[in-house]
Amino acid sequence: MKTELSRTLGIEHAIFGFTPFPAVAAALTRAGGFGVLGAVRYTAPDDLARDLDWMQEHTDGLPYGLDVVMPAKKVEGVSEADVEAMIPEEHRAFVRATLAKHGVPELAEGEASGWRITGWMEQVARGQLDVAFDYPIKLLANALGSPPPDVVARAHDHGVLVAALAGSARHARHHAEAGIDVVVAQGYEAGGHTGEIASMVLTPEVVEAVSPLPVLAAGGIGSGEQIAAGLALGAQGVWLGSIWLTTTEADLHSRALTAKLLAAGSGDTVRSRALTGKPARQLRTEWTDAWDDPAGPGPLPMPLQGLLVAEAVSRIQKYEVDPLLGTPVGQIVGRMNSERSVQQVVDELTRGFEKAVDRINRIAGRSAE
Ligand SMILES: Cc1cc2nc3c(=O)[nH]c(=O)nc-3n(C[C@H](O)[C@H](O)[C@H](O)COP(=O)(O)O)c2cc1C
Repeated sequence: MKTELSRTLGIEHAIFGFTPFPAVAAALTRAGGFGVLGAVRYTAPDDLARDLDWMQEHTDGLPYGLDVVMPAKKVEGVSEADVEAMIPEEHRAFVRATLAKHGVPELAEGEASGWRITGWMEQVARGQLDVAFDYPIKLLANALGSPPPDVVARAHDHGVLVAALAGSARHARHHAEAGIDVVVAQGYEAGGHTGEIASMVLTPEVVEAVSPLPVLAAGGIGSGEQIAAGLALGAQGVWLGSIWLTTTEADLHSRALTAKLLAAGSGDTVRSRALTGKPARQLRTEWTDAWDDPAGPGPLPMPLQGLLVAEAVSRIQKYEVDPLLGTPVGQIVGRMNSERSVQQVVDELTRGFEKAVDRINRIAGRSAE
């Protein structure tokens, strides 16, 4: 499965994987794909450096990348405390009441809430970049819009390709104008922040909009047949996020959450603002239902919602409160029915791809039969 982009990066399969777990990113790179480590949860630069050291030791000199969440609009001089102060008491009370209704215990005294999503703040993301450029990353991806021009220039100075996620052809054109090298066309089915256009429609639109820039198809891909479809639509590779969550290398810290993912069907996700304030696809739970209920106060805009719910999400995860327990995940969760290693997933993807190519060749009358 070779494309111009996979040849440029020196990888065997044009399979890119976003993951918050270094062990998954490294395993994908070792399996011949391209692991991209999500940096959003690293608020301390030293923690990121520790995990990138580990990546270096476990990738056999093969290429990998980093994904940051840098908003396109710059907010100068605003601290986390300033943002906290903007959260209305009504919303804090709603969080308390929803947790109390389900008997969610408090964290122990002094126990840090482990999941503060502050990596979206530009100053935090810039701290991550200061660390990242000391490592031989080959690709820097950005989730929220095009990264600022100085970041694009800095990446290019280091010989690092810049990728950006796009949910529409218009977004993709902005990225092209901003000097981005690779556009990830991420459809509505995807886990995490998504737009409203399904991959089947989005991929060819983005390919056409930014040609000749390489495009990766993302959203709803979990089989080799789906990879073949993405490549047939003009993509130079695929970008998968959800499928890695139930691999043996993933570290979700919750057996109950893994069990929920394995049991979920493709209709068990919802695109909700409950987690960050921007629409993000995730498992549908009583937590998302509460935020999406018109009788409640509704989610706050990003970045307020992420800060408001950070501690609650940690408590729900720590105590595995089943009705509220969730995670970002895409509709492909319906296929994630067994725990496998990253290598096994890649083997199955490449086998399925070959089967799909044979099938199309037969249909086109190109086989020996
Ligand atoms: C748990 C999870 C967290 C995600 N967080 C991010 C993120 O921090 N940055 C980002 O660029 N994309 C993020 N995404 C989106 C992925 O990069 C990818 O585009 C998406 O998962 C592809 O669709 P799929 O879920 O159908 O494979 C996340 C996805 C998941 C499932």
